[in-house]
Amino acid sequence: MSSHVPSPRSTSGRPRELLSQDHVRIERLFTELLGAFATGDREAIASEWTRFDEALRAHLDAEEVHILPLFRAVDVDEAARIAEDHAYFRGKLGELAVCVDLHVVSLPMATEFVDRLRAHAAREDALMYRWADTHLEHPASTSIGEKLTSLRPAMSLQ
Ligand SMILES: [Fe+2]
Ligand SMILES: [Fe+2]
Repeated sequence: MSSHVPSPRSTSGRPRELLSQDHVRIERLFTELLGAFATGDREAIASEWTRFDEALRAHLDAEEVHILPLFRAVDVDEAARIAEDHAYFRGKLGELAVCVDLHVVSLPMATEFVDRLRAHAAREDALMYRWADTHLEHPASTSIGEKLTSLRPAMSLQ
């Protein structure tokens, strides 16, 4: 199974760019998972699922470790909304893992998940990422980048 999704190359290295590129990659991985599903190739489905699951969990973890605690101090309500969305995504990953195993992922289920991911991405970009770009020190950007699977060059992507 070869890699289909090129690793993004950040130009600014700032949190907003790193994380926005990762949103795009995560959505592509989900599309590829659905593509694998359409072929019925169990090995491809399992491989695409692992890539998607790892990428999304790493993204959520990076935000929760490096941004959300600091952002919460300036906007507690917005931080709570973001944390609620993250809880929803983790719950859905658990549900989807079962559905993927059983080969019963439906189009409405997939569409709902992608719509929620897009809404969450837009929400983060409007406030939290802009705040992070102007308030986080450079080491935080490095730490975020190290967590994202899109920036781990050789990690199980070949
Ligand atoms: Fe998030
Ligand atoms: Fe995000």
